[in-house]
Amino acid sequence: MAAAIKDTVNNMLSALNLGGEKAGQDAPPQPPSESDFTELKQKYEKAGQGHVFQYWEELKPEEKGAIFQQLQPIDPEHINNITEKALNPPEEKSEESKPSLDQLPDSATSSVIDSKSGDLDKWYESGLKLISENQVAVVLMAGGQGTRLGSSAPKGCFDIGLPSKKSLFQLQAERIWKLQHLASKTYNKEDVSVPWYIMTSGPTRKPTEQFFEENKYFGLNRNNVIFFEQGVLPCISNEGKILLENKGKVAVAPDGNGGIYQALISSGVVQDMGKRGVKHIHAYCVDNCLVRVADPTFIGFSAEKDVEIATKVVRKRNAKESVGLILQKNGKPAVVEYSEISTELAEAKDPKDSELLKFRAANIVNHYYSFRFLESIPDWAHKLPHHVAKKKIPCVNDKGEQIKPEKPNGIKLEQFVFDCFPFLPMDKFACMEVKREDEFSPLKNAKGTGEDDPDTSRKDILLQGKRFLEEAGATVISEESDAGVEVSPLISYGGEGLDFLKGREIKAPAVIEKED
Ligand code: UTP
Repeated sequence: MAAAIKDTVNNMLSALNLGGEKAGQDAPPQPPSESDFTELKQKYEKAGQGHVFQYWEELKPEEKGAIFQQLQPIDPEHINNITEKALNPPEEKSEESKPSLDQLPDSATSSVIDSKSGDLDKWYESGLKLISENQVAVVLMAGGQGTRLGSSAPKGCFDIGLPSKKSLFQLQAERIWKLQHLASKTYNKEDVSVPWYIMTSGPTRKPTEQFFEENKYFGLNRNNVIFFEQGVLPCISNEGKILLENKGKVAVAPDGNGGIYQALISSGVVQDMGKRGVKHIHAYCVDNCLVRVADPTFIGFSAEKDVEIATKVVRKRNAKESVGLILQKNGKPAVVEYSEISTELAEAKDPKDSELLKFRAANIVNHYYSFRFLESIPDWAHKLPHHVAKKKIPCVNDKGEQIKPEKPNGIKLEQFVFDCFPFLPMDKFACMEVKREDEFSPLKNAKGTGEDDPDTSRKDILLQGKRFLEEAGATVISEESDAGVEVSPLISYGGEGLDFLKGREIKAPAVIEKED
């Protein structure tokens, strides 16, 4: 019975993987037989979505083949259902149905800000040991379209203006390289590998793969860099109808960063991890230039707690900051959006320390997963809700005209990566508070915005480098307040290994890329 359920869910998952263009599928699609076409058309008409065939007679044979291929794996009734649920989520209006919110229990939390250095060292060492035993893998979420940044290339290819001109992908790749090296040296092991699974989507897959090829995988073994693709879902009009991008193509969008779970199973990533003996996984977002990829301290902490999921958080800056919060909702771990809590709760002080906000654990989408948990995805993935994102979606209107709307004309359906937290009991979840200036600086907006943009990313890296050098005993001389030092991850992963700079004077801006 359980196996049957797993099979059904797996089939459903692959079916949802509507396939952006997969690399290598270049043969022109053949039009369907008359009977296959009629059968599919009836299915869509029954679901009130028959308009997707409105322009069928005008299409060339290969266009008919292409849209048929796109529409066939979609279950239009299922799309209607998830749209309906996303547009009308259960309300929490009455006092009784209002959730009870509380801080995470002390047993589930730690903070690098006030943890004992003995604990931090112990976690770092045990995490590095797990890395040396090839038990650790990394999953990168890089399927987003980066619309706010406005770059035509995937976000990971973006050059944030560092003196070295390194892209986000390169910074992350070099951190992985360095960790492999550190683990190998510390534990005297050869062939240490941290496989890097990179989730792309229809729009980001080809350019991402090409970028890695062109840059020779940034020195990593290409067998340990594995690309996989998340699913897409049709875009829906404000009236609940599937939108067409043009007469022969459904408008689709990636299914949100929560699409990671379906994709990890349907693309065979979890299976591959199993074969490699991976037990601990770090997952993060491509746009955080400070991310400590496969951070040994975080891995060691999570493994010691023996949890299914752990998450890093940063301290909320003030009661008004618009960030999601990690807390306990009805006794379960959860993320609550800032818009969902009252001002009174947002401003409440911590009963144990009146200097601090009670709810201050800001979500930065930086997670640990046990392999066990990823194996259990087929048991619960169908329960993940979809959310509505109102967007301007270029499409073809009833008259067959191509339109580029000026205001939102429809919705994209997205799953959120953290919506599975409440599926866990509290004792299988942990949270580690880290320093924002050391670990979180997201690239969201276009240059010139002044917030979470390429300039803030660059500045945060350079100022961190400056702190690294000062902690190592060097003096950094800078005339401008934001001039700093770029320390190559190939030299130092997190500030270690810079003793050779002790007592030296470095004039910022500077780049430290080798020991000399
Ligand atoms: P955001 O929600 O910030 O989206 O993604 P985005 O695509 O980067 O930017 P906007 O909103 O279009 O401007 C947070 C992280 O989740 C990943 C992104 O690649 C980023 O690492 N993501 C988002 C996916 O992997 N898939 C998605 O469908 C959406």
